[in-house]
Order: sequence, then C-alpha cells, then structure tokens
Amino acid sequence: MRKVSINDSAAYVGQQVIIEGWVTHHRSSGKIHFIVVRDGTGVLQCVVKNPDAILEGVEQWSELNQETAVEVMGVLHADNRAPIGVELEVESVRVIGLSENYPIAPKEHGVDFLLDHRHLWIRSPRQTAILRIRAAIVHAIREFLDDHGFIAADPPVITPAAAEGSTTLFSIDYFDEHAYLSQSGQLYLEALAMALGRVYSFGPTFRAEKSKTRRHLMEFWMVEPEMAFCDFEENLAWQEQLVGYVVQYVLETRKQELRTIERDTARLEPVKPPFPRITYDQALERLRGAGFDLEWGEDLGAPHETALAEMFDRPVFVTHYPTALKAFYMQPDSNNPLVALAADLLAPEGYGEIIGGSQRIHDPDLLQERMRRNHLDSDVYGWYIDLRRYGSVPHSGFGMGLERVVAWICGLDHVRETIPFPRTLNRVWP
Ligand code: 4AD
Ligand code: MG
Repeated sequence: MRKVSINDSAAYVGQQVIIEGWVTHHRSSGKIHFIVVRDGTGVLQCVVKNPDAILEGVEQWSELNQETAVEVMGVLHADNRAPIGVELEVESVRVIGLSENYPIAPKEHGVDFLLDHRHLWIRSPRQTAILRIRAAIVHAIREFLDDHGFIAADPPVITPAAAEGSTTLFSIDYFDEHAYLSQSGQLYLEALAMALGRVYSFGPTFRAEKSKTRRHLMEFWMVEPEMAFCDFEENLAWQEQLVGYVVQYVLETRKQELRTIERDTARLEPVKPPFPRITYDQALERLRGAGFDLEWGEDLGAPHETALAEMFDRPVFVTHYPTALKAFYMQPDSNNPLVALAADLLAPEGYGEIIGGSQRIHDPDLLQERMRRNHLDSDVYGWYIDLRRYGSVPHSGFGMGLERVVAWICGLDHVRETIPFPRTLNRVWP
C-alpha cells in the first residue's frame, strides 16, 4: 500500500493509503473519533466512523495522546472544509511510539519555558512553518547564486585572525596556538574570488556580541558572495536581485506556511528591484527631519534604521558611510576619501540591517596603511596583502544574515525563532 505524505494527499483522493505521523489532538463525538495527525509536511484530520476499525498498540482511542507516533491506514476523501481539502476515513491505526504528558499544550507558554523545551517546541505548527520557510530561503539563495555563475566555496571556520573587529571573537584552544571561530569568511572569499571569479560561502558564523536584542545571535548563518572585477554599483545590483528573488520565491512556494504564521504578505509583494538608495549624508538629513539629533560620523542605531526603513516600501540601501565607522578593508570613495564605498541594506518593518557589503581595497599600499591605522598585525594578514601583489583587481562582496532575513520575511518579533537551536547571550542550551 502506498505511503503518502500529508501535503501530497490531495492527489490520492479515493485511494487507500498509509500516513505516518504524530497525533496533535483527538476528540470523540459519540461513536465517531477524530484524530488530527501531523507529519512535518502538513496536518490531516482522520475520522474513525467504522466501529470495526482496528486500533493496535493501545486499548482505547482516547489513549492517542498528543505526540503519539502512529501509522494510519484508510481512504482519502475530498472535503472542502479541511484546510488541505482532504480527510482520511480510518481503517486502522497502529501506535509506533507512545507519548505521555507532553509538556507543550496548545496554550500560551512563556518564552523561557518554550526555549527550555526547544527540542519539542520545534514540532509546533508555527515553528515548523518558520523552519520550512527558512529552508525555502536557503534554497532560493543557493539557486540564485548557482544559476548566476557563483561557485560555492567554503572558507575555514577556525581562523587565526579577526575579520570583523577583535571585540566579538570567540577564542578556542588550537593546540599551542590561539585561534578563533570565524566571524565572516570574507577575507578567504577574496582569495577564492581571485581563483574562481565569482564565489560564495553559506554557513555558520560566530560573534561574541554582548548584545541582547531581537536581532543578535552569537551563532548565525551568513551567505557571503564575493566577485572579482566588480565595483560598488554592480555589487548593489547583485544584492537587490538576490533579495528580490528570495522574497518572490517564498511568496510563490510557501503560501500555506505564510498563512499558518499569519504573515501580512502585502508587505512583501513590492520587494522587487530596483531598491531605493540614499547616502549616509542623506540619511542624516532625513533623520534630522524626523526629529533625530545625529552628528556626522555617528553610527546609525536600531531606532534610526527603523525610522529610515519606514520611509520606503521595500529595502533601502544606505551608502557611503564614514570610513571611520566601517571595516579596514573597505575602499574609500575616490571623490571623498572620508566615506567608504560601503552600503548596508535595511529591511522594512524595523528589521534593520540585513546586508553589509562594500568594494574592497585592491591597492596594497592603501591596504597596509589602513591596517596600520587599525592596529592590525601585517604578519597575521600577510597572505591577505599578497592578494594585492599578484594581479590585484577591483572586487566587491557582501554578507547577508540569514536569520534576519527569515525574521523579516516571516514577520517575527525576535530572531530566536528563526533558527532551530538559537545561541543567544545567555543561552547555549538545549
Ligand atoms: O555587516 P557584517 O558584520 O559584514 C560582514 O561580516 C562582512 N565581512 C560580510 C561580507 O562583506 N562578506 O555582517 C553581515 C550581516 C549583517 O548585515 C547581518 O544581517 C548579519 O550579518 N549579522 C548578524 N545576524 C545575527 N546576529 C548577529 N550577531 C549578526 N551580526 C551580523
Ligand atoms: Mg554591518
């Protein structure tokens, strides 16, 4: 007999099938029993009308507790009252794994309780919908980059030096040496771009950020494209193309999940290139107009980013930040070296910076000067300077934080729900 996953079941109406899953709840109405089963792909109502239906593994239908693992056999019927348009008329239920006193009931629990039970919380309809959207976002990112000639290349996770400042490094013992968990694969991706042209990495990165905000994780996933022979403008074009593709892909392929989490998709529909661009100077002007008091040279904080993003219906690039605010490797603007050819992409609805990117310095002398000014040891970064010695070319890249993108696309209050097992300032468990 055919085993069918719930999201495919509408294609098997009229047929006898087997569904494997977990009981989310059951109820009885006289002699009829309703058992709702989920299998990770969807939720199906199973109805026991036949008094001779077989129950194996427990004595009573009422013993099919929440999260009992079952194999259900029966015939699928069309039913337009059911969310997925079908219902299963049960012939037999076989218990595969018992479940008792499941701690997460379908009622309100506190966040700490839920996070303590994250290994079980991920089974809930809302969490599975988010994780399915996350997977679709990952797929769309890889598909876009693979289809546009980017080679997936994997920088190391254990690194000897900082890529994004020394204050947020996680140290590890590497036998007799000091090493760190990677904050960004960028420096290695620059080497790989000189080998392969267009490259990207996609993996976990680590920052010991003493920030307890709804946007910060200690371990987060970043996609980092890096392109040889690519200037600042072309870099922005890749970013808006990628983000537009990802959002439209999710809108098309994850309708059911977006409904489950009650996302207002009207806010996502306009997210198509081109995205608006404002310089840092224009951002200051707009912010002053909105009542913020900000000096030239100050960094934009979360409230500023939120206020700016609210002025647009799609993500907005803020470009040409003061060089002093940004990383040592960013190319200063030849028209005004006080600002860098850098841009942050701010998501709508208060989700803040989802991408940071820039053109990279390709001149060896300028790079070394910037490194001296940032007190970086040219021994540790010697190989990085080498890249500027052997056929150096203008090149650019960016890093997009997956969890912030998931939070934005799903409309979540906090990044902790965007990743299966979040690592936050005060939680490394479970
Ligand atoms: O702006 P960031 O620090 O840029 C870099 O690391 C560059 N080296 C990337 C590159 O050009 N290849 O980080 C990039 C993005 C941010 O825009 C944000 O989306 C995300 O990574 N991010 C975080 N996400 C969650 N928690 C944190 N603690 C994050 N820090 C950065
Ligand atoms: Mg940044």
